[in-house]
Amino acid sequence: MDSIATAPGKAILFGEHAVVHGSPAIAIPLSSVRATAQITSLPGTEIKIAAKDINLEILLSKLEAKHPLRFAIELFFNKFSNIMKSGMSINLHSDIPIASGMGSGAAISAALFKALFQFFNRSFTKAELSKLVYEVEKLHHGTPSGIDNTVVCYEKPVLFRKGHEIQMIDFLHPFDLVIANSGFSTPTIETVRDVRRLYENEPQKTRILFDHITRCSHEGMKFLQDGDLQKAGNTMTTNHNLLQQLTVSHEKLDLIVNAANQAGAYGAKLSGGGRGGIVIALVDQNKIGLVTDAMQKAGAVQCFHTQIETES
Ligand code: PMV
Repeated sequence: MDSIATAPGKAILFGEHAVVHGSPAIAIPLSSVRATAQITSLPGTEIKIAAKDINLEILLSKLEAKHPLRFAIELFFNKFSNIMKSGMSINLHSDIPIASGMGSGAAISAALFKALFQFFNRSFTKAELSKLVYEVEKLHHGTPSGIDNTVVCYEKPVLFRKGHEIQMIDFLHPFDLVIANSGFSTPTIETVRDVRRLYENEPQKTRILFDHITRCSHEGMKFLQDGDLQKAGNTMTTNHNLLQQLTVSHEKLDLIVNAANQAGAYGAKLSGGGRGGIVIALVDQNKIGLVTDAMQKAGAVQCFHTQIETES
């Protein structure tokens, strides 16, 4: 049966990097930007892959063994060994900027696995899907915390803490974010490695930073649930300053954060792996235009607005 499936991007509101070392973090799905996987059957047993966004059109057997797409598809067939492999053409597309801290890798994997499940008419749970995506995330990130696969597969805001039960969040008040893409990036595996080194070399100082970030996640969540956006925004900016001290910001990101705050955002921070990627700003609805302009003038190459809605 031909199939098509999608998965959303994501942003981290509080707690990235510290989450790798056991702190809680809060992430939201970004449903307006998505990855899509479409599978059509082909005669024979060959699997063709096309991902026009990255100029890829190739037979699966010709992809290098460690390529995330090959790894994901082989993982699927190894895990479900009773499925009869058949010829297929897999088309992948994503609106999510690559390597920007918006979870493009996790979203592509999630869309791909969902489409494979559908193609073979197999039901699956979100937990099962998330576990598969996590295995592919290890190729991208080395030691991922698991937050990206969780938020992208459950498609709900989450309070995530490694080794703890996933806590879904129902926000009680809507809020608006402007998301600004800085237009450059550093692989997350590098920034995660550098934070680990910092922790090894200066354990006490780094632990204190992680503990402050933990406080940001708890307080940020409380302020958002109280509808106190000014305090939630201040907490975001504090979280950004702590990420600076973890060495994962960049002067261009700092400029965008400062510009957003000067234009009247409640607060702003980098989101994701850092040293590039996105900055998110918490804004009042009537400041969306001003903050967007300011972030663009400060160097952002692309900005968009998203509203995080309440459940009811
Ligand atoms: O995938 P990114 O770049 O959005 O980073 C994910 C967040 C980190 O905390 C930096 C890494 C992780 O695995 O949690």
